[in-house]
Amino acid sequence: MKLLRSLLKGYVPDDELHRLSGGFDTLGSIAIVKLPTEWSAESKRRAGELLMLKVPRIKSVWNQTSPVRGEYRVRGLEHIAGDTSTVTEYREAGVRMFVDVASAYFSPRLSTERLRVADNVKNGERIFNMFSGVGSFSLVIAKKAGQVTILSSEINPVAFKLMVRNVELNRMQNRVFPVLGDCRDQVEGNEGTFDRVIMSLPSGSWEFLPYAIRACKPGAMVHYYSSVRSEERRFVEDEWKRVSSTYPFLVLRGSRVVTELGPRTKEIVLDMVCERTANPDTGSS
Ligand SMILES: C[S@@+](CC[C@H](N)C(=O)[O-])C[C@H]1O[C@@H](n2cnc3c(N)ncnc32)[C@H](O)[C@@H]1O
Repeated sequence: MKLLRSLLKGYVPDDELHRLSGGFDTLGSIAIVKLPTEWSAESKRRAGELLMLKVPRIKSVWNQTSPVRGEYRVRGLEHIAGDTSTVTEYREAGVRMFVDVASAYFSPRLSTERLRVADNVKNGERIFNMFSGVGSFSLVIAKKAGQVTILSSEINPVAFKLMVRNVELNRMQNRVFPVLGDCRDQVEGNEGTFDRVIMSLPSGSWEFLPYAIRACKPGAMVHYYSSVRSEERRFVEDEWKRVSSTYPFLVLRGSRVVTELGPRTKEIVLDMVCERTANPDTGSS
């Protein structure tokens, strides 16, 4: 993320410029900016064109009009300059990925987190990536770890198709196995078989936790992502209290704030060892 304001000074009226905060994200040849809603269409277009001029690899600029929303966790976008294609190739940790900024979730801001998880994976692990998107976690893990098996479920057909394409592009068909559909449907027949479960749905992981637990071998690791609002800035503590009081057989091995979502809201991750498998009927111990 780079500061946009300094780039645009002198090109956009000062009374519009002072409302601008933050920077922009780049994914391959696409830039995503967050411009104030009051800006005129002309100022938005000028900002987009200037960005392409100053950063030559940017070929297309989109303004984010809403946060990620809905079941597919996709953000609202309006085109402001350059090419209109929403698909681009992005590279991370030696992996090539096609992403579609308008129709499938992807965030370059989670690259450090993906590497952190990948660094903990051991050779031979069987992993369940419940909310795979375009396959980002699975691909980075498969690249870094040795021989692993990653069941990668995804409910959005556009994201699923990109994941299949990305798995082929990186020649990982023998390690990453994409499945289209609700991750809950993958648990039946796979109970107690996974060494690691990745739950990257911060807006809703809580309701899927019983399914993750059913999928775990005793001693498996669960990476549980959650967006937490806390008035006292006790983001990790508050979420761990909620989780541990319902599932006392989960043991906390690590935790961190992954990213800032607002002044009192953060995305956190709890790394938890599942000490026993859950009752398959209820999901509880
Ligand atoms: C926040 S995104 C994370 C994607 C990916 N792990 C990443 O970091 O790029 C959550 C993803 O879960 C998918 N999803 C939501 N509900 C699902 C479900 N019940 N089963 C499988 N995938 C689901 C969404 O379509 C979305 O692509």
